[in-house]
Amino acid sequence: MKGIILAGGTGTRLYPLTLTVNKQLMPVYNKPMIYYPLSVLMLAGIQDILIISTPNSLPLFRQLLQDGSQWGLRLSYMEQPRPGGIAEAFTLGRSFINDEPVCLVLGDNILYGDGLGGLLQQSAQLQEGALIFGYQVANPQQYGVIEFDQAGRVIGFEEKPKFPKSPYAIPGIYFYDSKVCDLAETLRPSARGELEITDLNQKYLDRGQLQVEILGRGYAWLDTGTHESLHQASSFIQTLEERQGLKIACVEEIAFQKGYITDNQLYHLAKPLAKSEYGAYLMQLLESYSSHLIPAKVPVLEAI
Ligand code: TTP
Repeated sequence: MKGIILAGGTGTRLYPLTLTVNKQLMPVYNKPMIYYPLSVLMLAGIQDILIISTPNSLPLFRQLLQDGSQWGLRLSYMEQPRPGGIAEAFTLGRSFINDEPVCLVLGDNILYGDGLGGLLQQSAQLQEGALIFGYQVANPQQYGVIEFDQAGRVIGFEEKPKFPKSPYAIPGIYFYDSKVCDLAETLRPSARGELEITDLNQKYLDRGQLQVEILGRGYAWLDTGTHESLHQASSFIQTLEERQGLKIACVEEIAFQKGYITDNQLYHLAKPLAKSEYGAYLMQLLESYSSHLIPAKVPVLEAI
């Protein structure tokens, strides 16, 4: 399965922070925001990944993430000239997707929870139809929302409804089969001029090919689109990381645990970062590994 991270947008709700800096390059506690969706794709076992962003920001993502080989990945890059909507990922990404199933993650979404790795790996097995998730939130008005019938079956979606028909919002991670590019080509821009992901999901639903899984309260789905939610996400990551002494969305650690890089490669990644607490963590990881304090395959990957 291929992966796409959509990391463009204008970030108007974060102004003035995002007047010159792309939202997905901003820090969530101690690492760039894009490390979180990248970790999600890595945990799903996806190594072939397209980063889509604005013409101004794309060179910075390239500088930060390079070609991905340092982490055992293959990263490609593509410009989105204007924010034409989330579903535009599939018209822009057609040649990259190349008739394979694909997982799209929004660059400003953070997912965390026990068992997430297993859930993602299982989801990445998808060959037919589409798989999306539902998550209860206190403010569904700000998201795509799922509508259910009396029997609990999904009957439709609404984008940012004034009066939501349920509290279940759709997190920014979507799995689609290889037909997604053809279906995305049939979409027409909405009233706000965007190719809507909600319309794409509706097409799969109409064909009887949409699976919706509800993520329970054991998962955290955070987005970082406002000053308040960005600050909350940083506090959440800091609290968990300091309590456990384990990092969330540490791409080098995931690459190492997945066996994409050797201990020697990890050492060379850690060395230039060693003055930071992030780099010290990687060095400590290597030490624990070489002194057999932790087994090579620890179950920490269940969470990111
Ligand atoms: P949004 O939060 O809807 O848009 P935004 O990031 O521009 O922020 P604001 O509403 O404050 O102006 O976007 C959700 C995610 O999708 C975010 O990671 C940016 C990305 N995105 C694109 O890359 N291209 C697009 O055309 C759209 C609509 C979003």
